[in-house]
Amino acid sequence: MSTQRTLSIIKPDAFEKNAVGSILKMITDSGLKVVACKTTRMTVKQAEGFYAVHKERPFFGELTAFMSSGPIVVSVLEGEDAVTKYRELMGPTNSNEAPEGTIRQAFGTNIEKNAVHGSDSADNAKIEVDFFFSANELRGLLG
Ligand code: RTP
Ligand code: MG
Repeated sequence: MSTQRTLSIIKPDAFEKNAVGSILKMITDSGLKVVACKTTRMTVKQAEGFYAVHKERPFFGELTAFMSSGPIVVSVLEGEDAVTKYRELMGPTNSNEAPEGTIRQAFGTNIEKNAVHGSDSADNAKIEVDFFFSANELRGLLG
């Protein structure tokens, strides 16, 4: 195991619930460090690009409409084994199956409106960080 970075998105449902502060606190309490963070919003086209891996899935249209429906908070998280650690903190995709102590249990609603996204591998984390952050925004942060 080694120090890793992962990309977190606080999704529009959690932003609308005013849960941004509480979710960032759960992240920092878990020991992960926020090394970059901003509020932004995706267009439908950007959401289609970000979730291109799911383009053949039946929920793709709903997912991209949802992800572009309001503001989001994107963060780069750093720590030991950060990819797996953050996915454990998020809980499973379906919020209704998420255990106590997870972000999706606390703030998710269902399988789609599940409060947060986290990269699923270190390679995808790099791609996703570059999707949202410019070289200048990452200056001096990423080795
Ligand atoms: P994420 O990519 O957002 O971190 O979530 P994940 O890995 O846990 O789940 P994934 O399978 O990658 O699905 C991406 C997002 O699509 C929405 N979804 N809707 N209606 C459905 O059956 C369904 N299944 C997935 C969720 O917002 C999920 O997080
Ligand atoms: Mg995923």
